[in-house]
Amino acid sequence: MSESKHIHSAVAKLYNTYPFPPEPLLDEPPPGYNWRWSWIAAYAFCTGRKPAQQDIRILDAGCGTGVGTEYLGHLNPDASVMGIDISEETLEVAQQRCQRSGTTNVEFQQLNVEEAQTLEGQFEMINCVGVLHHLPDPAAGIQALAQKLAPGGIMHIFVYGELGRWEVRLMQNAIALLQQDNPRDYRQGVKIGRKLFETLPENNRIVKREKERWALDNQRDACFADMYLHPQEIDYNINTLFALIEQSGLDFVGFSNPEFWQLERLLGKAPELLEQAQSLPERDQYRLIELLDPEVSHYEFFLAKPPLPQWDWSTDNDFLAAIPERHPCMEGWESQNLFNADYELVSLSQIEFKLLQAIDSNQTQQQSLREILKETGTNLTQARSLHRQKLIILTPTASH
Ligand SMILES: C[S@@+](CC[C@H](N)C(=O)[O-])C[C@H]1O[C@@H](n2cnc3c(N)ncnc32)[C@H](O)[C@@H]1O
Repeated sequence: MSESKHIHSAVAKLYNTYPFPPEPLLDEPPPGYNWRWSWIAAYAFCTGRKPAQQDIRILDAGCGTGVGTEYLGHLNPDASVMGIDISEETLEVAQQRCQRSGTTNVEFQQLNVEEAQTLEGQFEMINCVGVLHHLPDPAAGIQALAQKLAPGGIMHIFVYGELGRWEVRLMQNAIALLQQDNPRDYRQGVKIGRKLFETLPENNRIVKREKERWALDNQRDACFADMYLHPQEIDYNINTLFALIEQSGLDFVGFSNPEFWQLERLLGKAPELLEQAQSLPERDQYRLIELLDPEVSHYEFFLAKPPLPQWDWSTDNDFLAAIPERHPCMEGWESQNLFNADYELVSLSQIEFKLLQAIDSNQTQQQSLREILKETGTNLTQARSLHRQKLIILTPTASH
């Protein structure tokens, strides 16, 4: 067996033993949302505008037990969603999950990500979360996916970061040393790992990190095994991450957690230092951020296949001519206190609330923001505030 086949088979065995993520199956649609799985929200994040088409194809590459796939189906009812994975047992759970919750616009296929080019047609959106870093050749995987991305399409990726997983790697290596005779017996590995955590002193650095950061999830053996027993894991830093992105041939659009990647957050109290840092090339700025805040246990970001048009709403005339609608991801609507797409608590003023209500009932009429402001006696500042807080999404009009 070739080295890469050997790795695929070890990875498939891990997930056949412990399908991941081990979230319970429900008889109803999944609760909440993640805007990165909403085509409208993700596209608006990447381009500034609502996408023109909703009946698109979405690929969930390395879909696991279908938690993300189910959300993709549910949040994008006009799309058709395809989930692929190499682990049979995992796909079985994914299928059951979607059947039980009545998610009908999804289908699954057992397929290696590196062979994605064998899928028919192209996809406007590809989601690949927690997968590329487990491939023997992540560049081959990302290239196979890039081939399947339609021009103007977007890809959401999540891969591990080495700085925030330093202690995890130590424990992985320690367990591997103690399990040399039978490295693919993942159940035995979980037992050894748990025993190590029980045995080490409480103030041990690896134990402290586990307690602070991971212990809650790791009560479940599937999570523990995914973290500490993985037969194949490549962790990235900003430099190696951008090397991978370059190999994909796609454009980097931005991190999907942009707040973390702001220099102001770390250097805001020293204007001169901040200015100097901001004069560095973009990639060096990111590197500086992770060097100064090495909590980075993963990177999540969007790539795109050009052409991906960008909309800039800084001109008031363009902004006012746009057709607004309520953001698809929020919780607590219809109330003045709600959670926005990033699950931040937002308290709307009476007048902002009135404006959002008017925008919400604008679906059929498709009035411009200018018309809605006039009718409701609200103003540009209030509309800008809703937009800034990710409560509305805009479609440019022909006059734009
Ligand atoms: C950590 S899980 C992530 C699951 C899912 N994407 C999520 O975020 O919930 C990784 C998944 O990738 C799958 N996988 C690993 N290597 C793969 C490959 N070469 N091709 C397809 N799937 C793969 C595994 O079987 C596993 O289900």
